Amino acid sequence: MTKRIIVGLTGASGSIYTLALIKALASLEWQIELVMTPTGEKVLAFETGAERKSFPENVNIHENTNLFSSLASGSYRTSGMVVIPCSMNTLGLMATGTGDHLLARAAQVTLKERRPLVVVPREMPYNIIHLENMLRLARAGATIMPASPGFYHHPQQIQDLVNHVVGRVLDQFGIEHALFERWSGV
Ligand SMILES: Cc1cc2nc3c(=O)[nH]c(=O)nc-3n(C[C@H](O)[C@H](O)[C@H](O)COP(=O)(O)O)c2cc1C
Repeated sequence: MTKRIIVGLTGASGSIYTLALIKALASLEWQIELVMTPTGEKVLAFETGAERKSFPENVNIHENTNLFSSLASGSYRTSGMVVIPCSMNTLGLMATGTGDHLLARAAQVTLKERRPLVVVPREMPYNIIHLENMLRLARAGATIMPASPGFYHHPQQIQDLVNHVVGRVLDQFGIEHALFERWSGV
């Protein structure tokens, strides 16, 4: 498996998830190809205080306007892509196959190459257009994983909730982790 993964950060609330995912992947020595929408980068700063220079060195930042990036081509090998958190705007772009900015193009490429595309939408409530976009993407091969952590591992702090979502995302790629205690029956 190529230890290289695309992470898309959009302007939905919940960039704390992105930070936790990047931290987990970086600790496992994965190469992270990060693409942020302009609003995603602003919400990241607003909600977490993080900025570009906060990312570990195994994060390559790709400009969302750069359609000459390696991520725009299927010939650039990756293990797949996670869009976390995913705004309803970017969800709509991906569901319609739009490719005029890099994050949406990378998602389009991931699907056409039949690589895993994990989408972590964040909105509430969803309107019918949101739900239809999720269905359309799921039918195209994406995995829709709403940012809705479980409580059966008895979370004590916010990070426990975040780690539950991020751990379940890593599970989709078969990446070993110890971000939460697994259910083993009662
Ligand atoms: C602080 C903040 C929180 C937001 N949270 C959400 C959200 O949870 N879900 C969502 O779909 N949009 C949310 N939005 C709106 C999106 O940022 C907006 O629709 C934007 O156009 C998304 O652009 P992008 O998809 O290019 O990142 C939020 C905006 C701000 C400023």
